[in-house]
Order: sequence, then structure tokens, then C-alpha cells
Amino acid sequence: MSEVRLRDEMARLCRSLFERGFSVGSAGNVSARVGDGLLITPTNSCLGFLDPARISKLDSNGHHAGGDPPSKEIFLHRAFYDSRPSVGAVVHLHSTFATAWSCLTDIDPEDCLPPLTPYAVMRVGRVRLIPYTRPGDPRTGELIRALEGRHAAVLLAHHGPVVTAGNLRSAVYAAEELEETARLLVTLRGMPTRMLGAEQVDELTRVFSAP
Ligand code: 13P
Repeated sequence: MSEVRLRDEMARLCRSLFERGFSVGSAGNVSARVGDGLLITPTNSCLGFLDPARISKLDSNGHHAGGDPPSKEIFLHRAFYDSRPSVGAVVHLHSTFATAWSCLTDIDPEDCLPPLTPYAVMRVGRVRLIPYTRPGDPRTGELIRALEGRHAAVLLAHHGPVVTAGNLRSAVYAAEELEETARLLVTLRGMPTRMLGAEQVDELTRVFSAP
């Protein structure tokens, strides 16, 4: 996809996320690979009102090469691109239910989003909880790099999800799937709930393998 079309698509998908309440205010940031670098939403921008021409461009060394100043979360985006070559886009949100889930004291940090529905397993896979760091702290990138590319998505404690996929549209869909799964988990909390079993998860991973 040309850079001009990718800029338009990023603005359109981000607006859609904003209009449906997946992001509020200036929360969240989105990036995608282009031939000679990365496009990423500008710092302090609202996902609902991006100007495609002002989306930040970083060159292949990560230096700011055009548009408005980039998101302060560039570290966590680059950690995914560097450790998972198949990643074409990264979506970070502060979406309500996933963020609520990230604050619970009794979730499994190794596998923090239990396998409730097939689409979460297919699109998002096993999600790792990353311990709290302040927004924009480069240590978040180091914690993601330490996972050595084993996860397509992580949940930042007290902060929100970071979801990746092979392209921008798929990353947005996966971020929506993660949020809706968290919403179901919160809804079902306290009710005896049957999760998918290991065999079912294995089958989904085999047939639909997450990027
Ligand atoms: P930026 O405005 O710098 O992208 O930061 C927003 C955010 O979501 C911080 O986690």
C-alpha cells in the first residue's frame, strides 16, 4: 500500500476506534510499517481527528523524518517491530475493559486473558501482562523485547493493551477483539465460567495461527 493510502487508512481506522469509544481524549497510539520506515500517530493527538498529512514519519533508524512529533510510546511500538518481523502494525489503546482487567490482582501474568472465545485466541493469542511503568518510559520497550517476539499482544498493567498484526486493519480488529473479550470476562466475573480447553486452543492456533 502506498504511504498516502496508508496515512488515509490510519486516520480512518483511528477515527472509527474513537467514535466507538475504544479511545478517549488523546489516549492511544497507532503505527504501521511503510517501505522506508514507520508511520505513527503524533504525541497528544486525538485518534478521532488525525490529519493524514501530519501523521509522524520515522526513518528506518527510528529518527523523526516528517509530520508532527511522534507518540512518546514509540519505544513499545519499535520493540514489537524489532522482535517480531511479521508485525506490520501496532495498536495501543486505553480501552476501558482491558484496562480494568489489567488492574486485577488475581490474573495470570503469563496468560492474562483466559481463552473465552475462539476469535480472541485466533486474532490475539496468548497475552502477557507487563508490570506497570509510566507512559513513555523506555523500559516498557525493554520489557517487551525481553519476550523475544513470543507474543502478538501484551497488556500493560494499569494502562491498556498493545496489539500487533501483519497489517493495520488486522491489528485494529485484533485490538477490538481483545477489548470485547475483556468486556465479556468482566461481565462474567463471579459466575462459574467454562473456558476453552487446551485442545480447542491448540486447534485454533494450528488452523488460524496468529501473526
Ligand atoms: P501519546 O499522546 O504520546 O501517543 O501518548 C498517549 C498514550 O496513550 C500514552 O500511553
